[in-house]
Amino acid sequence: MSVEHALTNLPPERIEVNGVSKSFSTKHRVVAALDSINLKVSEGEFVCLVGQSGCGKSTLLNIIAGLESPDSGRVLANGEVVTGPGRDRMVMFQEHALFPWLDVMGNVLFGLKLKPGLNDKERVEVAEYYLQLVGLEKVRHSNVHELSGGMKQRVALARALAPNPRVLIMDEPFGALDALTREQLYGDIQKIWQARRKTIIFVTHNVREAACLGDRVILFSPNPGRIRREFVVTLPRPRDINSVELAHYSTEITAALKGFTPAEGKEAAE
Ligand SMILES: Nc1ncnc2c1ncn2[C@@H]1O[C@H](COP(=O)(O)OP(=O)(O)OP(=O)(O)O)[C@@H](O)[C@H]1O
Ligand SMILES: [Mg+2]
Repeated sequence: MSVEHALTNLPPERIEVNGVSKSFSTKHRVVAALDSINLKVSEGEFVCLVGQSGCGKSTLLNIIAGLESPDSGRVLANGEVVTGPGRDRMVMFQEHALFPWLDVMGNVLFGLKLKPGLNDKERVEVAEYYLQLVGLEKVRHSNVHELSGGMKQRVALARALAPNPRVLIMDEPFGALDALTREQLYGDIQKIWQARRKTIIFVTHNVREAACLGDRVILFSPNPGRIRREFVVTLPRPRDINSVELAHYSTEITAALKGFTPAEGKEAAE
């Protein structure tokens, strides 16, 4: 494999979640984290998942990533059943989860460790490309602890992008950042998504963020975790988080989220 090949845009994958349910049993209770989830995400689509804490969003992402298995149902990636994690589906978490003993370059190279067919020099070239894409080429040799929160998330993004996945799974990646830093990243992630053609599944608590980034916004409710509604966002890109049109969407989505009645299971228990 060459550097050129390692950087070639691979066709994004289609993800299908079919009838996925998952419960967790602890000493004191059984939690129905997900109940009969059906979701189709097309090739190259940007889908955002929103819903209150505990409605199973992270559980669903982990199942799609192959990090956890469902109790019933299955996930298909381009028609193939997902049975474990794979290089085609990379995850980016809320906490950057960088390795503090490696510098910026080392962290991005780590994502390329398992990439076959590249020698060390070629791996550095690929890592340089992604550091440039996220605007961090100047801090390539900085230690992780010297970076701001926004920069750390950019490193995490470069590390997730470097193996050239077809699907990017993002769990509240900007949740811990201030509003201004987040706004910059909204612009960047839209540009990167357009340049690198990925299917993106993105979880957030922030409805405006979901409307800004998503082709579709999927609404969840908890106990048990279910999909309740979806909104298609047709605004042209790049979108401005502060635009009036976007505010209309976020008002409508917020009203829908607030309108969900408590789930049946919970009512019955009370
Ligand atoms: N490993 C686990 N063991 C026991 N319960 C779990 C486990 N993982 C998740 N849960 C429970 O499953 C439910 C869904 O959790 P999940 O983390 O998927 O929610 P979430 O929508 O991502 O919430 P948040 O928005 O707070 O991140 C919660 O009630 C949670 O307590
Ligand atoms: Mg979560």
